[in-house]
Amino acid sequence: MSKYLEERVTHVHHWTDTLFSFRTTRDPSFRFRNGEFTMIGIEVEGKPLVRAYSVVSANYDEELEFFSIKVQDGPLTSKLQHLKVGDPILVGKKPTGTLVLDNLLPGENLYLLGTGTGLAPFMSIIKDPETYERFKKVVLVHGCRQVAELAYGDTITEALPKDELLGEMISEGLVYYPTVTREPFRNTGRITDLMRSGKLFEDVGLPLMSTERDRFMLCGSPEMIRDTRELLIEGGYIEGNHGEAGHFVIEKAFVEK
Ligand code: A2P
Repeated sequence: MSKYLEERVTHVHHWTDTLFSFRTTRDPSFRFRNGEFTMIGIEVEGKPLVRAYSVVSANYDEELEFFSIKVQDGPLTSKLQHLKVGDPILVGKKPTGTLVLDNLLPGENLYLLGTGTGLAPFMSIIKDPETYERFKKVVLVHGCRQVAELAYGDTITEALPKDELLGEMISEGLVYYPTVTREPFRNTGRITDLMRSGKLFEDVGLPLMSTERDRFMLCGSPEMIRDTRELLIEGGYIEGNHGEAGHFVIEKAFVEK
């Protein structure tokens, strides 16, 4: 039996020369927890060519959405970036991942720290009503080099607060903090620097981080994960995973070289 479901592309959106999103049909048998990833790809010369992609959609959505980089000589994304509505796409049957609420100890504030396409799993998590039942405030930090790379900004600030079912929870519970490192913007600087200096907490109007109150989910490049993890471990935060909940959890964002 195949490890993949064969779905169809239903929508493609190009954000920049290097970033795009696409939606696919969803087989009713495909179940996942918000924050998880699955293998996604296409068939090339009769063989599946797949990579791990976090699911952007929430587990109750009818379709599946993914957020991808485009690398001109990347084995998969050089092809994926040309996807058109109606094209076939492979979706791995076994979603998994550590960025799930159950892997975190109870707390007051949840910080979702994503750089680049590392935003993807957090789009799913901010659409989960359970996130707001477990945490008083949810702070979504998205770090990018350029302003144009702040994908989903309008969804977060315009569409979601107006959502019939989630609107109130999101308006009251979610704080969106986009930050840019290589051009001027209202918030600038790396997530790690903003945490060390305390500026992030000051800007969002919350107290300085504490192991008692605050929980973190990280998704970004290997370097971003390494440095943010180090900062948290220095502060006495314990990493969680399946089987043992902690103060923070990590997942590498997909990079294609
Ligand atoms: P910077 O522009 O200072 O490198 P990338 O596209 O390389 O994954 O970067 C996405 C964002 O993550 C950029 O704003 C980048 O900042 C930032 N970033 C890169 N490396 C780290 C790191 N080690 N710690 C924190 N942020 C990082």
